[in-house]
Amino acid sequence: MEDSANLEPLFPDRDSSETLGRQLTRRLRDAIESGLYKPSSRLLPSRELAARLGLARNTVTSAIEQLIAEGYLESRVGSGTFVVPTIVKQTIAARSGFLRLPETAQRFRSSRAVLDSFATGSGPLRPGRPDLTSFPHAIWGRIARRTLADLSTYLDYGESKGHPALREAIAQHVQQFRGVTAAQHRVIIVEGTQAAIRLCADVLLREGDAAIVEDPGYPFARIALASRDVRVFPVPVDPSGIDIAQAPPGRLAYVSPSNQFPLGARMSLERRHRLLAWATENDAYVIEDDYDSEYVFDGKPLPTLQSIDRGERVLYVGSFSKTLAPGLRLGYLIVPQHLATTFSLARLASTLGSTQFVQAMLAEFVSEGHFARHVRRMTRIYGDRRRAVIQVLEEGLADLSFYVGAANAGLHVALIAPPDFDDIAVATELAAEGLAVQPLSAFCIGRADCRGFIVGFSSAPLPEVLRATRLLVRCIKRRAVVESRSS
Ligand SMILES: Cc1ncc(COP(=O)(O)O)c(C=O)c1O
Repeated sequence: MEDSANLEPLFPDRDSSETLGRQLTRRLRDAIESGLYKPSSRLLPSRELAARLGLARNTVTSAIEQLIAEGYLESRVGSGTFVVPTIVKQTIAARSGFLRLPETAQRFRSSRAVLDSFATGSGPLRPGRPDLTSFPHAIWGRIARRTLADLSTYLDYGESKGHPALREAIAQHVQQFRGVTAAQHRVIIVEGTQAAIRLCADVLLREGDAAIVEDPGYPFARIALASRDVRVFPVPVDPSGIDIAQAPPGRLAYVSPSNQFPLGARMSLERRHRLLAWATENDAYVIEDDYDSEYVFDGKPLPTLQSIDRGERVLYVGSFSKTLAPGLRLGYLIVPQHLATTFSLARLASTLGSTQFVQAMLAEFVSEGHFARHVRRMTRIYGDRRRAVIQVLEEGLADLSFYVGAANAGLHVALIAPPDFDDIAVATELAAEGLAVQPLSAFCIGRADCRGFIVGFSSAPLPEVLRATRLLVRCIKRRAVVESRSS
């Protein structure tokens, strides 16, 4: 509290052409970035802040909400709003005045904290990374040599929306695996999901528009939107997925309905229909991130949102990051009919398309059936790892109120802890022992009731994954004893 009691840097300049709300958001962000407001310090209550700064209360609450969405602040039920404990301070050079970042570059600052906490973690429990030792090197090498023999075909600019043979192969693949129907002119090849989300934002959003994301949710979707100066609103996820009834009006919703990231919830059919109705009522669009549901272990998947959308509201996103390798940087967007031309123009405007050679190789890999075979083989391997990990977690934590989330697909499971469990303390302790584990609370935006861990099982051989899972279980048990003594 004492750190953020200094209000001087927050007072607005009433002669500025910048709105009071934008000024407050920027000034508050700067105070955190510069280290003036220290990590974990508490903000004054919004009512008091508004009164002392001479601002309307909702100007203050929207600035706070924006910074919560950007990852600078967090609200803790019953105790107030705090500077996020892991916030990264601005560098000395930037703070000292020379090498000042241009105003427009500020929008990428919040990505830094996300990158630090998510992208650097490695180890056997890292979620969502396929087992790269199982990459089909021999077949890929053969296809590479054949494609290379034809290299001159791929040296010129190609179609900005992607190599036609790859678009055709993907159209057939999604039809077979996910029941998604689309002619190839609606398939746009992009450099993975991240590029797809940015492209959607380029085409569909104006600065200041509202976009809905899941809470907890995929941090890279949030930063892709926030860094485009879009107002990002987190909406809580429960076991039936996101409840759009709790969302404000918006222009875009980003969701992962088949395997909600990170909780693994499968959006109910009723919620899917409500989400589509919300999109129609708001003249909005929905990004359906179907990032890993080629891997289905139990039961049948529900139909994709795209396949039940009658109003041309859904942009379906798929990626080869989980099924083959993230380093390929290849994914696809399937856009509604009325947006197909616009999206290929947007690709033209942004990148003129991507490497033809690699697209041609992938097209052959998919159309010759290697891709489907590879996914089937890996589903068996990952299925064994998943069963073994769930068993260790369930047996090891049987006497505590932890449970494994509902996922029946994908490359990680969510281990849900009681809502007051300190998952960050466990992650910190394990990091000191050399094991990276991602605490669920790091994926929460506005809520404080979601604790636990994301346990990936795909990136390393089973014995390593099990050893790490047992270490996690032991550390959780130690922590549970500490917490029970202090309660
Ligand atoms: C929810 C979600 N979507 C998409 C992706 C894949 O992203 P990309 O295709 O940009 O590699 C991931 C990777 O971890 C993810 O967790």
